[in-house]
Amino acid sequence: SKEVVSVPAITQFNTRSEEFFPLEWYKKMLNDNPIYYHEETDCWNVFRYDDVKKVLSDHEFFSAEGNRTILEVGAKNKEGAIPEKVSISSMDPPRHHKYRSLMSAAFTPRSLKNWEPRIQQVIKNVVNNIESNTTVDIVESYASPIPSMVMADLLGVPLEDSHLFKKWVDVLFQPSNNVDQEQLEKKKQTAAKEYFQHIYPIVVRKRANPGEDIISDLLAVEVDQEKFTDDEVVRTTMLLLGAGIETTSHMISSMFYSLLYDDATLYKQLREERNLVPNTVEEMLRYRFQISKRHRTVKQDNDVLGVQLKKGDLVIAWMSAANMDEHMFERPFELDIHRKNNKRNLTFGIGPHFCLGAPLARLELNIALTAFLERFAEIRPVESFNLEDNLATSAPGQSLMRLPLQVI
Ligand code: HEM
Repeated sequence: SKEVVSVPAITQFNTRSEEFFPLEWYKKMLNDNPIYYHEETDCWNVFRYDDVKKVLSDHEFFSAEGNRTILEVGAKNKEGAIPEKVSISSMDPPRHHKYRSLMSAAFTPRSLKNWEPRIQQVIKNVVNNIESNTTVDIVESYASPIPSMVMADLLGVPLEDSHLFKKWVDVLFQPSNNVDQEQLEKKKQTAAKEYFQHIYPIVVRKRANPGEDIISDLLAVEVDQEKFTDDEVVRTTMLLLGAGIETTSHMISSMFYSLLYDDATLYKQLREERNLVPNTVEEMLRYRFQISKRHRTVKQDNDVLGVQLKKGDLVIAWMSAANMDEHMFERPFELDIHRKNNKRNLTFGIGPHFCLGAPLARLELNIALTAFLERFAEIRPVESFNLEDNLATSAPGQSLMRLPLQVI
């Protein structure tokens, strides 16, 4: 298994809130240390837009393979192992192209169009369960259930499974910083086993009786005479859950945090002008998604970044920092829902590994915000709320565990 590089050792944040929204650190790094070698972890860090773009897209020099990583995935037993063929995140072209094509059978524009009404329905049910004139925890009642319910629906498994998904994903992607490693690995293995035993029979049934869902699409697809086995389909769904649930939840809760605390006039404005929603979502992806970073391994000695990089060096590309680069975005540290070029944010990456689920995530975020605007006239913060006490360490960084708000 891979050696895990400790990102907290590099950032040295003092508080959870600082890590949740590290604009001061980004500002400092973008200005003073845009290409930063961190000795203790022996890795390079790049922050500026052009450098991040280069590292993520130039696969001749920067490989997604390698034996060091910043993200732990899965468990070490046979159910928890993601087979090589399915691990497209850590695969280089040309192999990557073939296996990504297999997986993208589940994400065609046609399927997205078919899914839209289903996603609308799922989200409508969730929003209708929230009562007016109450205080709700938006994480518990909105941000956390929506992505798992949408994935359950699209995979074609019973909706009751969605809370199990959430439970398994939380365990399987829990970081091992500051916890008992052995105990955590045991928990992960159990979760992987439960997940496998739960989904495998569903896949076998769909092989015989396909439906309109991702599992059936994955079973049917063929690229260069290669197909997925039942076993590989189960693991692919595991990968999709891992890639798609926590990220989207994090973005939904961060979006509400922004509406409450970045600019309290936005909600009313958006209610009056719903056509501003897509650009607002894009600006929130740029400004409020602070956990986007990926690593690559230097494939051959080079100086394409202007420093001497050696084969085997690890480079971390800080996409969330690149989203704050003034060379790309004017007044980057301001939230501006009218910003013209904010779709160029690097939150979903760029290049061959660009997030396969980005169109789905964007659709979910747009529908989640619109459905809320349609149902509630106003949202208000709860005075006693303290950010620091309501954050917790998740796989990619600090996430809101609770965000109470009043709905009118
Ligand atoms: C890859 C972000 C939602 C599936 C990625 C990458 C990023 C990312 C940064 C990797 C880029 C790289 O390695 O260069 C996000 C964010 C999301 C989100 C911010 C939500 C706000 C989703 C969803 C799915 C998904 C909903 C699917 C259900 C994938 C897959 C990959 C990926 C399969 C691997 C692509 C490859 O390596 O070729 N995502 N993602 N993501 N994402 Fe997402």
